[in-house]
Amino acid sequence: MRIIIAKDYKEMGKKAANMIASQIILKPESVVGFATGETPVGMYKELVNLYKLGSLETGKITTFNLDEYYGLSQDNPQSYAYYMHENLFKHIHIESSRIHLPDGMSTDIEIECARYEEKIYKAGGIDLQVLGIGRNGHIGFNEPDVKFEARTHMVELDQDTIAANARFFPSMKEVPKQAISMGIKTIMGARKILLLAAGIEKASAIYDAIYGKITPELPASILQLHPDVTMILEEKAASLL
Ligand code: GLP
Repeated sequence: MRIIIAKDYKEMGKKAANMIASQIILKPESVVGFATGETPVGMYKELVNLYKLGSLETGKITTFNLDEYYGLSQDNPQSYAYYMHENLFKHIHIESSRIHLPDGMSTDIEIECARYEEKIYKAGGIDLQVLGIGRNGHIGFNEPDVKFEARTHMVELDQDTIAANARFFPSMKEVPKQAISMGIKTIMGARKILLLAAGIEKASAIYDAIYGKITPELPASILQLHPDVTMILEEKAASLL
């Protein structure tokens, strides 16, 4: 595991964007797994800057997002599809057929999850998967006590996650209670993983993910077993290391 400490949020975003740019420049047809949340917003900004400078072409990449809220349509401003469009896809050249997120409006979840896994498989697997981390150590929406062997599946969100994500919604009761998320097995199948964390509230989860017991109680702890993980941590998130 490589651990890079960035002096602030901006530097974390720059370093992460550089790593993604390098992946895309060295393999233009890369399959990139993207994450949402507040943490990677700066990274997307920096990536868009690199794109606008003409430093990279994005027309051949294929993307898969980690997760989507259940019951939110793509045009709902709180959906992850909307977030990705606003933060990245509307700024770069990429055909919509190359962009994939779980369909939060699907009526047959099992089929939707199997379809998502098949698409990742057919694309050749994920070259680089970006992750954030929840305060409880979740990755994607794989909450504590997830089955490590699960692939894309429907999850019930923890109260802590619902409370943490309420800041993006008009009120707590509008935060969906369920989501469709890549499973731990899907994430662990990525050839490279890039995890970002910022803020003191992530420090304990980061410490446990790196030094703690490998346990479903802290889903990110499984990353200790992945052969190619880079963590780019803003100083406060790294303060317990
Ligand atoms: C959500 C997302 C995760 C993300 C986490 C942390 O639960 N599903 O992918 O890592 O929030 O979000 P933030 O970066 O806003 O702290």
